[in-house]
Amino acid sequence: MGRVQDKIILLTGGAMGLGKACARRLAQEGARVLITDHNAEAGAATAAELGTNVDFLEQDVTDPARWNEVITHVEATYGRLDVLVNNAAVTVFGSIADVSYEDFRRCYTVDVDSIFLGCKAALPLMSKTGGSIINFSSAAAINASADLVAYNSAKAAIPMLTKSVALYCAREKNGIRVNAVLPGTIMTPNVRSVIDGTPNPAETEELFSLAQPIGHMGEPDDAAHLVVYLASNESKFATGAAFAVDGGLSI
Ligand SMILES: NC(=O)c1ccc[n+]([C@@H]2O[C@H](COP(=O)([O-])OP(=O)(O)OC[C@H]3O[C@@H](n4cnc5c(N)ncnc54)[C@H](O)[C@@H]3O)[C@@H](O)[C@H]2O)c1
Repeated sequence: MGRVQDKIILLTGGAMGLGKACARRLAQEGARVLITDHNAEAGAATAAELGTNVDFLEQDVTDPARWNEVITHVEATYGRLDVLVNNAAVTVFGSIADVSYEDFRRCYTVDVDSIFLGCKAALPLMSKTGGSIINFSSAAAINASADLVAYNSAKAAIPMLTKSVALYCAREKNGIRVNAVLPGTIMTPNVRSVIDGTPNPAETEELFSLAQPIGHMGEPDDAAHLVVYLASNESKFATGAAFAVDGGLSI
């Protein structure tokens, strides 16, 4: 019996990185996982790699109409929705002087609006059974950088959005818990390519590692294990909380 046995889980941005690691761990713990991503090729390949308990659907999480279609598909295919993991996001680098308003808005639309849209679209279906919503924020919601003005501020909105939706669900007594996850720097293919794109990758990797008081970067499963806990009934008393998994970065 897995820790999330037979739960129906919708996870955005599952084609790669932390989303893929979460999908793998959730499926290993017995869940049926539908991953979505706007990268259809990578998403389909990931679902095929992860096995028969993982399905894929193309979705741009910034499209409100597509959210409704995805939820309709979930209900028609699986009959219910137990867990929603809002993982998809983009990182927009740059200072207040460098970032265009267009890129600033893009960061908010993908990182914040998508979570608003996902919660809004999923709540009616999830309310029928209760469940768990898990929103990916970041240690960057707490630790600011001069060169992350869009990402810092967008990710900071997520724990508060999470608290508000959690209180709404508690008031409605619909059995839905809502929590945020705040990872520190975790080595994914995209983080690898950011490091490799700097003038001195070895030095950058060392700096990234030392930024975490624990002295090293995280692995994707560090976040995935937390997501399994929040998706499972083990976390039944947790709602409205922000869970850091960051090697102490946000202390
Ligand atoms: N990796 C880290 O170090 C780290 C640290 C803190 C927080 N996070 C957060 O964890 C989550 C996952 O991070 P990651 O490093 O795996 O990211 P990633 O960039 O490797 O993967 C993000 C996924 O989201 C998808 N995506 C992007 N825009 C989309 C859109 N509009 N519609 C649908 N899918 C879209 C991408 O195709 C990709 O598969 C993000 O919310 C990120 O902000 C990551």
